Amino acid sequence: QVAAASGHTVVLVDQSDEILKKSAKGIEESLKRVTKKKFADKPEAGAEFIEKTLKNLTTSTDAVAVVHSTDLVIEAIVENQEVKNELFKRLDKFAPEHTIFASNTSSLEITQLANSTTRQDRFGGLHFFNPVPMMKLVEVIKTPMTSQKTFESLMDFSRAVGKSPVSCKDTPGFIVNRLLVPYMLEAVRLFERGDASKEDIDVAMKLGAGYPMGPFELLDYVGLDTSKYIIDGWHKLEPNNPLFAPSPLLNKLVEEKKLGKKTGEGFYKYN
Ligand code: 3HC
Repeated sequence: QVAAASGHTVVLVDQSDEILKKSAKGIEESLKRVTKKKFADKPEAGAEFIEKTLKNLTTSTDAVAVVHSTDLVIEAIVENQEVKNELFKRLDKFAPEHTIFASNTSSLEITQLANSTTRQDRFGGLHFFNPVPMMKLVEVIKTPMTSQKTFESLMDFSRAVGKSPVSCKDTPGFIVNRLLVPYMLEAVRLFERGDASKEDIDVAMKLGAGYPMGPFELLDYVGLDTSKYIIDGWHKLEPNNPLFAPSPLLNKLVEEKKLGKKTGEGFYKYN
């Protein structure tokens, strides 16, 4: 959405037409929200902005078939190293020589993903934040093999889509998640110990620390499955780090398919 809105030609790829239809609907709704603010007094300019953006956006279920005409691939599939490696390996065979590959992974090592391809110098991390149309930050990750030219292209692309990039080494969680995920898990542990209710913890962090959402609201917003994949991956890397200890309550909710806002229930219930 943000790439199309800033004049880039985008092909959105997913597994089924049904998912793509849902995504397109989500993008249209989000564009309407953005437009309502951006073009508050100019509804015609707003309508034109939406039309132009949607013209830049097509969809496909066949990544291999569309990759030949791309300059940049941004992968944002399931947070699973093997599945991501498999996709990158396949795309590497069909993508043009110059094409840069980037992953939006929240927690996996970019170096390991790059190693599934033959273009380690044209591979980096581009990590966006929910909700992407609103959050200004992008973390740009340079591995020891990423060329300076690729790194600068990723920084330039981030600016071209209206974001403020920061750079970080290829280290678990980069900057934001390395701080945010242990904080959210600490909130769950506080609640699990019965020290405070989740509602009070959320109110406390909003009114006492000025956060726009409390940790339980944010966990539901990000997705409990995503949060669990992140913490499980780090726990594997550093089993003795108490900040990376898995949470029984989080695991239980994920097992019950209560994944947060997207499934209608997580720590809270949604209509
Ligand atoms: N698309 C477009 N516009 C949106 C939007 C979306 N998806 N979501 C919110 N907005 C805009 C709209 O203009 C909306 O106004 P509207 O309701 O009239 O359309 C406006 O934001 C205000 O939204 P709300 O009234 O719903 O609520 P807030 O004022 O609280 O703002 C928020 C919403 C921007 C999401 C704010 O609560 C916030 O900043 N929350 C914290 C988000 C955060 O921490 N994100 C990082 C998560 S970590 C992550 O993503 C990393 C990953 O790897 C796990």
